[in-house]
Amino acid sequence: MIELRPETGEDWWEVEALYDLCFAPGREALSSYRLRDDIPPVAGLSLVARDEALILAGAIRFWPVRVGTAAALLLGPVAVHPTHQGEGLGGVLIRDGLAAAATGGWERVLLVGDYPYYSRFGFEPLTDVVMPPPTNPERVLGQAICAGAWDGVRGDVTRWTNA
Ligand SMILES: CC(C)(COP(=O)(O)OP(=O)(O)OC[C@H]1O[C@@H](n2cnc3c(N)ncnc32)[C@H](O)[C@@H]1OP(=O)(O)O)[C@@H](O)C(=O)NCCC(=O)NCCS
Repeated sequence: MIELRPETGEDWWEVEALYDLCFAPGREALSSYRLRDDIPPVAGLSLVARDEALILAGAIRFWPVRVGTAAALLLGPVAVHPTHQGEGLGGVLIRDGLAAAATGGWERVLLVGDYPYYSRFGFEPLTDVVMPPPTNPERVLGQAICAGAWDGVRGDVTRWTNA
């Protein structure tokens, strides 16, 4: 039995430890992290999944970014503890996070990841959206939360600024 809740400040370091376990060493050197430095994740969208013993089984975070002048959500990191991988938890975290994003009024989301995994959630390559280098452009994927929300939105992904 796994329960999902919004991440709180008390979860922060446990989630960081899960990400350290699930990703290659040096994950914070990735260029996508420069979009996150000193900017908090979007409150209410980031989720933690705990088992009945309250042990962390998975987590997802979302950051606000700009693409040109448009607001967008950067999905990730998302990770599931190796002992729970393949049980569908990653999918639940992604779908619940996207549903919360829609409720919160967000219109578009992007990520850097494997198309064979994320295509099942409706993500498609964003050919006109440029993540900070070095990022493989084929791994830049997006989804319109509101129909047509990526139409005409293009350019560099930059750190969040209040419009
Ligand atoms: C990617 C991850 C979040 C998926 O979580 P999960 O709970 O294991 O995934 P689900 O149970 O929802 O889905 C499992 C399916 O996804 C597939 N899958 C998992 N990672 C994949 C990848 N990188 N590419 C393609 N398919 C992948 C599995 O093969 C499985 O396929 P099946 O349904 O045909 O059997 C998890 O494996 C993980 O934490 N990996 C390490 C960290 C990571 O790579 N995070 C994502 C990058 S941002």
